[in-house]
Amino acid sequence: MTHAGVFITFEGPEGSGKTTQLRALADFLAGQGYPVRVTREPGGTPLGQDIRALLLERHDLGIVPRAEVLLFLADRAQHVAQVLRPALQNGQVVLCDRYADSTLAYQGYGHGEIPLDELRAAIEFAVQGLWPDRTFLLDLPVEQGFRRLTNPGAKDRLENQALAFHRRVRQGYLALARAEPHRWTVLDATQPWDAVQRALREHTLALLQQRGLRPRPR
Ligand code: TYD
Repeated sequence: MTHAGVFITFEGPEGSGKTTQLRALADFLAGQGYPVRVTREPGGTPLGQDIRALLLERHDLGIVPRAEVLLFLADRAQHVAQVLRPALQNGQVVLCDRYADSTLAYQGYGHGEIPLDELRAAIEFAVQGLWPDRTFLLDLPVEQGFRRLTNPGAKDRLENQALAFHRRVRQGYLALARAEPHRWTVLDATQPWDAVQRALREHTLALLQQRGLRPRPR
C-alpha cells in the first residue's frame, strides 16, 4: 500500500454491464464527495488511444499473440505512468475499466498460447508493482453476455472470437479470483442491474472506510 488513493479495477466478459456500472458508481462516489477518476484500458492515454485503434480496429494486420500482449502492455505502462500513479498519489479513487487481469484472462486463459508465468512477468515489467486494491468481477455466463450486447452486428475484433474462447476467459477470471480472494470481489451480473450497483456501492464504501479515505469538503 504505497499510495494515498484507492485503485479499483472492473473486469468481466463482454456484455457484463461493467462499464455502465462503473460510471454509475463513479457518479455516486463523486456525489458523496470523494475525488474520483474514471479511466480504462486500452485507451486511457493519448498513446493508448492509438494503440487501442490498432488492437481493436485493424483486422488487416494479422497481429500475432505476443505482439498483441506487448501492445496491451505498452498501453498499460503509459497509463500507469501518466494517469494511474499520479491520480493515486494524489489521493483519488481510481476506477479503471479493465487492467492487468484482462491480459491474464484473454491473452493467457483465452488464447492459451503464452504460459501464464511468462505473461505475469511481462505484466510486472509494465506495471512495476502497481496492482489493484480491489478488483470487481462482474460474472455471467458467456451466452447471456453476448445476448446483452446492444449491437451484436458490430463486434470488434476480439469480440468476434469463438464462444469457446470466451468460456475460457470466464473460467480464467474465476480461477484468478479464487487464487486471490482478498483482492477480488465476484458479483453475479445476472442479477438485476440495481442489485449489482447496490453491491458495488456497499463494497466500495467499506473499502474506502477501511483505507481511511474520507469525502473531501466541497
Ligand atoms: P472494449 O471496447 O473496451 O470493451 P469492453 O466493454 O469489453 O471492455 O474492448 C476491450 C477489449 O480488449 C475486450 O475485448 C477485452 C480486450 N482486452 C484484452 O484482450 N487484453 C487486455 O489486456 C485488455 C485491457 C483488454
